[in-house]
Amino acid sequence: MRNKNRRKYSLWLYYVLSVAILSSALLSVTWYVTDRFRTFFVDQQRIALEVYARTVALDIEENGLPLSGFAEICNASKQTDKTLRLTLINTDGEVLCDSAANPPEMDNHGIRPEVLTAYAGETGSGIRFSNTLQATLLYVAVPLNSDDGVWVVRAARSLTAINDLLHEVFRKLFVVSVLLYLALFLVSYYLFRKINPPLYEIRQGAERFARGEFDRSLPDYQVKEISELANAMNQMATKLDSLENLRREFVANVSHELKTPVTTIKGFTETLLEGAKDDPADLERFLEIVSRQADRLADIIDDLLTLSRLESAPLSEVLALDWHDLCDILKACKEVCQSRADKKAIVLRVDCRSPVRIYVDYSLLMQATINLVDNAIKYSPEKTMVKIAARVDASHVCIDVSDEGPGIMEIHIPRLFERFYRADKARSRKLGGTGLGLAIVKHIANVHQGEVAVSSRVGSGSTFTILLPKKT
Ligand SMILES: Nc1ncnc2c1ncn2[C@@H]1O[C@H](COP(=O)(O)OP(=O)(O)O)[C@@H](O)[C@H]1O
Ligand SMILES: [Mg+2]
Repeated sequence: MRNKNRRKYSLWLYYVLSVAILSSALLSVTWYVTDRFRTFFVDQQRIALEVYARTVALDIEENGLPLSGFAEICNASKQTDKTLRLTLINTDGEVLCDSAANPPEMDNHGIRPEVLTAYAGETGSGIRFSNTLQATLLYVAVPLNSDDGVWVVRAARSLTAINDLLHEVFRKLFVVSVLLYLALFLVSYYLFRKINPPLYEIRQGAERFARGEFDRSLPDYQVKEISELANAMNQMATKLDSLENLRREFVANVSHELKTPVTTIKGFTETLLEGAKDDPADLERFLEIVSRQADRLADIIDDLLTLSRLESAPLSEVLALDWHDLCDILKACKEVCQSRADKKAIVLRVDCRSPVRIYVDYSLLMQATINLVDNAIKYSPEKTMVKIAARVDASHVCIDVSDEGPGIMEIHIPRLFERFYRADKARSRKLGGTGLGLAIVKHIANVHQGEVAVSSRVGSGSTFTILLPKKT
């Protein structure tokens, strides 16, 4: 729960933020592209104007002034390119000719920045609003070495055309941006409408499931991820539902199992109190029955406690794992079961060659093996043999408990390890079984990452096996 104390934001905020980021990115790209375009265009123009001005200057330097006077130069230029303005300025800043204006009406041009640069012998340029032409012009001025000193040839062109063009481009891009912005917003809104209500429904579904109401599952949604989430939730609900059913069944089973001995004890105690206690024979017989039923209750409760201990998490606190020799464990089991075997003249044999090292919880594995041996003794006829054998294969260390008993019918085998499942109910009850023995064996194998198996044929005995993974 790392996120618990962090502020939570609605999906809305993320939508608005992403729309804002995307649209500002769009606008800055538009602005940047226009700006670069403008710079590029102005640079190109500047170069063209300089080339033109230098050509004119060179022509005058080499061929001298035309006989007809200065005006001829500017007129010629006007003829070549109408959009171009050519100005010729002498050392004193006086305009000698201008292709776009009348020199006598013009003021002294000697202090125009680009002209000053040209006087100094370099190429001067600048963008300015021209009072003469009432437009923004790009000026390029170059020096011209005449007999009278340094003159200046200045070429200029209006930037109005390019500005108009750029404005047009910018305007169009802006319109497109706005349209994209709108589209983006609509898509986001659509997504929002598609995602938010399902999320709300899923949340309500989860709350329903948490309350144990599994009758209504979540519908299928159009958005893939959401539909997957809903499906996962439905699967979880199904699992929870069946777990809940298992739990109910288990509680019903436990109650049923406990009811019989409790009813018996109650019945016999009442009979005793009502006068049976006065007959010594009845007293002894009834008390024996009561005692046996109390033992039975104790057995069931012991087994239930064992099971719940094996199911409690974390397991690491329940398991006391260590290295042991399996043969020692099997021999100890034989010791424990020997007297029960003797009563039925059953021969118990341990088949194990030390050392078979295993990493297990000693007492749990003892209990599992004893449960198997106990069953073998309980369900086998007298004067038979029960074998407890250790076996090692490529990946497992196995404990086989085989008997020469009645065997188990195949239909029972799949459910044999379930709690309270008995193949032969009457017999098991008569022999004092709780029906939990094999469930405990399976649990113990599982907490060791192992498994259980059984192979049995009616009439020719059974072999129960605990398979433990080999640890090297
Ligand atoms: N060695 C065996 N031979 C025949 N039947 C067996 C054997 N072991 C177990 N079973 C059958 O499996 C059932 C479940 O065993 P278990 O869980 O130990 O319960 P129980 O308390 O009845 O012994 C028994 O009731 C019995 O019907
Ligand atoms: Mg048993």
